[in-house]
Amino acid sequence: MTRVVVMMGAPGAGKGTQALRLSQELGLPHIATGDLFRENLSKGTPLGEKARGYMNAGQLVPDALVIDMLFDRVSQDDCREGYLLDGFPRTVAQAESLLERLGETPGNGVNLTVVNLVVPDEVIVERASGRLLCRGCDAIYHRTFSPPEGEACDACGGELYQRDDDRAEVVVERLKAYHEQTEPVVAWFQSWSGEPAVTVCEVDGNRKPEEVFEACVDCVKEVA
Ligand code: AP5
Ligand code: MG
Ligand code: ZN
Repeated sequence: MTRVVVMMGAPGAGKGTQALRLSQELGLPHIATGDLFRENLSKGTPLGEKARGYMNAGQLVPDALVIDMLFDRVSQDDCREGYLLDGFPRTVAQAESLLERLGETPGNGVNLTVVNLVVPDEVIVERASGRLLCRGCDAIYHRTFSPPEGEACDACGGELYQRDDDRAEVVVERLKAYHEQTEPVVAWFQSWSGEPAVTVCEVDGNRKPEEVFEACVDCVKEVA
């Protein structure tokens, strides 16, 4: 059985924060399309160059680019038993292509769980504006809600930075793209009745990270 978990939610809802821990809990690789794009950007690859303008404007990168990049990643060996997706799918077209691909997966079936982190828009802007990330290990901090002990990353000593797209004016655009293009994907998953079977869990993401984590674990364990 291939295990696929999809983390959904608005920008800054806590997908990355929860996915890092859940991937350890479940022993599945954490695959974040935003992180993959940022890696391509920092290496100056052609894919990164194509994605840059969209990301800095808070818009979604075109489906074809995202889908190719994601399928390339999940065809690697470490994903054979499953994987945890963070930030994909974000459009109905992306969701369709994921289910189509999973439907063709050889072996004894796929178990797909969608965890939807629900957080009100007001909280989102506050979370994004205080976020700090580690260049070394991708650890996620927040100036107020989960501050590092010093200036550097607690885990690896790496340099901490702010994302270019966490400026308030870009966050507003990202939220708009979320409501227009990504929120409908949750309802689309809920109405899906084909193969593979999909379980959708709603998790209140507007509480302490530890409590959110426990709710996420309950939701993926229930399904297992
Ligand atoms: P991506 O990197 O995926 O960004 P996003 O969806 O906007 O989500 P974030 O990473 O901002 O938030 P998160 O939910 O991971 O929150 P986090 O845990 O960090 O995508 C970036 C861009 O890439 C997109 O805009 C698009 O251009 C492109 N892209 C990526 N995937 C794509 C796709 N599939 N299709 C098309 N384009 C795509 O938490 C946020 C902050 O809050 C942190 O500081 C954290 O410490 C804090 N925090 C977390 N949980 C809590 C809590 N419970 N209480 C208090 N603070 C908390
Ligand atoms: Mg993230
Ligand atoms: Zn680090």
